[in-house]
Amino acid sequence: MADPLIIFDTTLRDGEQSPGASMTREEKIRIAKQLEKMRVDVIEAGFPAASEGDFEAVKAVASTIRESTVCGLARAQFADIDRAGEAIKPAAQGRIHTFIATSAIHMEKKLRMSPEQVLEQAVAAVKRARNYTDDVEFSAEDAGRSDPDFLCRVFEAVIHAGARTLNVPDTVGYTMPHQFSELIRNLITRIPNSDKAIFSVHCHNDLGLAVSNSLAAVLAGARQVECTINGLGERAGNAALEEIVMAVRTRRDVFSVETRIDTTQIVPASRLVSSITGFPVQPNKAVVGANAFAHESGIHQDGVLKNRETYEIMRAEDVGWNANRLVLGKLSGRNAFRSRLTELGIELGSEAQLNAAFHRFKELADRKHEIFDEDLHALVSDESIHADSEIYSLVGLRAHSETGEAPQARITMRVGAAELVAESTGSGPVDAAFKAIEKIAPSGAELLLYSVNAITSGTESQGEVTVRLSHGDRVVNGLGADTDIVVASAKAYLNALNKLQHGAVKLNPQA
Ligand code: KIV
Ligand code: ZN
Repeated sequence: MADPLIIFDTTLRDGEQSPGASMTREEKIRIAKQLEKMRVDVIEAGFPAASEGDFEAVKAVASTIRESTVCGLARAQFADIDRAGEAIKPAAQGRIHTFIATSAIHMEKKLRMSPEQVLEQAVAAVKRARNYTDDVEFSAEDAGRSDPDFLCRVFEAVIHAGARTLNVPDTVGYTMPHQFSELIRNLITRIPNSDKAIFSVHCHNDLGLAVSNSLAAVLAGARQVECTINGLGERAGNAALEEIVMAVRTRRDVFSVETRIDTTQIVPASRLVSSITGFPVQPNKAVVGANAFAHESGIHQDGVLKNRETYEIMRAEDVGWNANRLVLGKLSGRNAFRSRLTELGIELGSEAQLNAAFHRFKELADRKHEIFDEDLHALVSDESIHADSEIYSLVGLRAHSETGEAPQARITMRVGAAELVAESTGSGPVDAAFKAIEKIAPSGAELLLYSVNAITSGTESQGEVTVRLSHGDRVVNGLGADTDIVVASAKAYLNALNKLQHGAVKLNPQA
C-alpha cells in the first residue's frame, strides 16, 4: 500500500515573495480555486501579518476554498499567530504554519537569540497557535544548515507542544540530496515522538536541487512536500509542484507514495500562475514547458509514431496538454460567456465587472475569430474591467512606425475623471507609447522588464505583455493583452502604474 504524500502548495506565499510576483486578493482567489480543483491538500495562502491586504487575501481564500486546507504563515510571535488565526477562521480546514530559524548563523546574526531562547519561543508559538486550530505546522527555518542535535531537541519539544507537521526547510538551497535524505532519516529515527507528526520538506532551488532534495527526502520518509507551481519563489524559486507530482507518479516503482493531485489540471494551473505573475515558463521546462512533449528529431518522431513509449515517459494529456480549446466565438452570448468563466473557476465580483468583461470579449471576438480559454484568462486579468481599482486607464492609442522615420505614439488616457492626451517619439512604437504615458503620469519608476508572449498560436493571437516597474522598495508587474502588441504594452504599463499607486509595502516574513 502506498502512503499518502501531502502536497502543500506555497505559490501564494513563498511564490509571492519572488520580486514582482505580488498578487491581488482576486488573483489569489483565482489561483487558489485552480489549486483546489487540482486537489492540492494544503494551500498556503499568504502571511497575514505582512499587510492588511495579505490578511484580507488569506481570509478571502479561507472563506472560498472548501476542499483543501487553507494555511496562513506566522513568525513565532504571538501577534503574527493571532493574525494568522483570525485570517484562517472562515476555513473549512485551517492550518497555522509558524516558524523560527534554528541555524547558528540565523540565530546569532539575524535573531540575536540563544538556542535556548529559540527553543522556548518555538514551543510558546506552537501552543499559542493551538488555541486557533489543531492543525499546526512548525518550520525550523534554515534547517539544512542547522545542527541536527539541536533540530532533534526543537522538534521533540514542538511535538509535545502540539505541532502535527514538522517542516524541514532547505531555506538557502545549500544541501545535497544525499545529505538531505540523511538528515530526514536521522530526524525520524532519533526523535522519540516522531511518529506523532508528519515530516515535511521545503526546498529552495539555489543550486538547482530543490526537486532532487525533496524527492530524496520522500525516499527517507518525508510525507509532505512544500512546492510551488512552475517552481516560483524567492531567488531561484522553490521545488516545482508539477515535477514532484509527476516524478512520484511516473516512478511508482521507486516511490511508495501517492498524491491526490488531478494531474490534468497541472498545465492550466501553470498557465494561470504565469499569466497572473507575468513570469513566463521557459520552453524547455519539465512537464509544463511548451516543448516538454515536442519531438523535433526525425528519429524521435518516427519512434513515437511507432510506439509512444520509445521516447515518452508521460502522456501530454495526463498533465493537461489539451488546451487551446475553442470555447467561444463572435456569436456567443452573455450566458455562454458567463458559464464558460464559471467552468474556468473565474468569478467576477459584480455584474458591472461581468458586463465590462463581456464588452471586452465582444471587441476581441471582432478582431480574433477563435477565442480560447487562455484568451479568457487574459481578458479577466485585464485590470480595466475591475474599474474601481483603477486610477489610470487607456482610452485610445495611435502608433506610427515607418522605415527611416522616428516612431511616434499618441496616447489618450483617463486619469481619475479627466481625459488627457500626450504624444512622444521613441526608439520604437512601444518606447514612444511609454514615454507618452510618462508625460501624463510621471512615475519616476524604473523599467526592470518588458516581455511579450503570444497567448495562443498564430499571428491572430493576442500578445500578452508584462511590464515590471520598480519604485523605491516596491516592484510590481503590469499585464496587458491585446491582438495589437503596442496597445497590450500600453495597457501593461498602465496596469503597473495602477499597482504602484495602490499597494502598500509588504513585510517579508524572513527579512
Ligand atoms: O524557506 C523557508 O525557510 C521558508 C519558511 C518560512 C518555511 O519559506
Ligand atoms: Zn521558503
